[in-house]
Amino acid sequence: MMHPTADAGFGVYVHWPFCASKCPYCDFNSHVRHAPVDEARFVAAFAREIAHRAELAPKRAVTSIFFGGGTPSLMKPATVGAILDAIGQHWPVDPQVEISLEANPTSVEAERFRGYRAAGVNRVSLGVQAMNDTDLKALGRRHTAEEAMGAVGIAASIFDRFSFDLIYARPNHTPAAWAAELKEAIARAAEHLSLYQLTIEPGTWFHKLHQAGKLVVPDDEVGRALYDVTQEVCAAHGLPAYEISNHAAVGAQCRHNLVYWRYGEYAGVGPGAHGRLVTGQGRLAMETELTPETWLEKVETQGHGLADVEILTPEAQGDEYLLMGLRLTEGIDPRRYTALSGRVLDPERVAGLLEHGLIVRHPDGRISVSPAGFPVLNAVIADIAA
Ligand SMILES: C[S@@+](CC[C@H](N)C(=O)[O-])C[C@H]1O[C@@H](n2cnc3c(N)ncnc32)[C@H](O)[C@@H]1O
Ligand code: SF4
Repeated sequence: MMHPTADAGFGVYVHWPFCASKCPYCDFNSHVRHAPVDEARFVAAFAREIAHRAELAPKRAVTSIFFGGGTPSLMKPATVGAILDAIGQHWPVDPQVEISLEANPTSVEAERFRGYRAAGVNRVSLGVQAMNDTDLKALGRRHTAEEAMGAVGIAASIFDRFSFDLIYARPNHTPAAWAAELKEAIARAAEHLSLYQLTIEPGTWFHKLHQAGKLVVPDDEVGRALYDVTQEVCAAHGLPAYEISNHAAVGAQCRHNLVYWRYGEYAGVGPGAHGRLVTGQGRLAMETELTPETWLEKVETQGHGLADVEILTPEAQGDEYLLMGLRLTEGIDPRRYTALSGRVLDPERVAGLLEHGLIVRHPDGRISVSPAGFPVLNAVIADIAA
């Protein structure tokens, strides 16, 4: 039998949990520390976690590695290199491996790009967020638009592959302003853009302001118009969506993120990292300690920083497959859903969604969400997974 995730590849996610300051909209596992971070201690802990995961899931060929955060561009290039060495010591690494690193686009960080390239990184993803200084300030960013474009230019001169992120549906954002901003961004981007609609996440400073009525974001109607503009402008300029928030030229998709969305196997190391590994016990969902210092201590005393490990039931695997796969324009394969969950998709629900034009059935049997379905993706997934 084919290995259940053979075609999705095997990814390693490395979480660097520190930032220079906390952005008011962000609920990622990121921490600000005023004392210098002991990178050597972290390298040793990452190496131990990598060894631990390789013992659970040996002999996989690593097809992608992703340094995410937090702000991985605060790491010394030597730290990145040492973590890559540890990965290479425990798993065979595919010669075509994609190695991405998330970077904040300040001039200080751009100075490290050459060092990352030398360490083996071959793709960077820059958090540009907005193309004008007023909005960057409102988002609490530490860089100007000019500085960000400078970092993009440096990335383009060093890496064959790079991407940048923008956040839209910001306060007072209009479809016309966003269309112009997006065109400017596309002119600077090469092959890939991540375009996220601003979400007000509980626990963030923006959430507090929003609750108090001091932060007003575009309503659903404007949000929908902004989403539509995103799709139109990107498709017209050769960067169609391949996932609800990700756009790429043909063949330029982020291979690491595809591992998640195609419900492949990946190891997650570092504070707050998630993983999915198929072992003798079944498919395991794994999660590590969130607080960097707690994670370090746990790794140093137990050899891993795991806080939670769950054996996923067939039903849970089917649900996760739908949740991840339906975000992709390529959609899901109902046969894989059945192989994972032991169930079939409810024919009546599928027929209803087809009738409403919210999903499409392809000649090869795959099912994908239609352009009309994507703006209501969560409802479509909830319906089909019910
Ligand atoms: C984990 S962040 C890391 C990137 C890097 N630290 C930076 O800020 O440039 C990944 C991306 O998530 C997006 N993001 C974070 N919080 C968001 C929110 N509340 N709504 C929309 N997008 C968000 C941003 O575009 C950000 O670049
Ligand atoms: S958006 Fe990026 S820089 Fe800002 S707090 Fe989140 S992870 Fe850190």
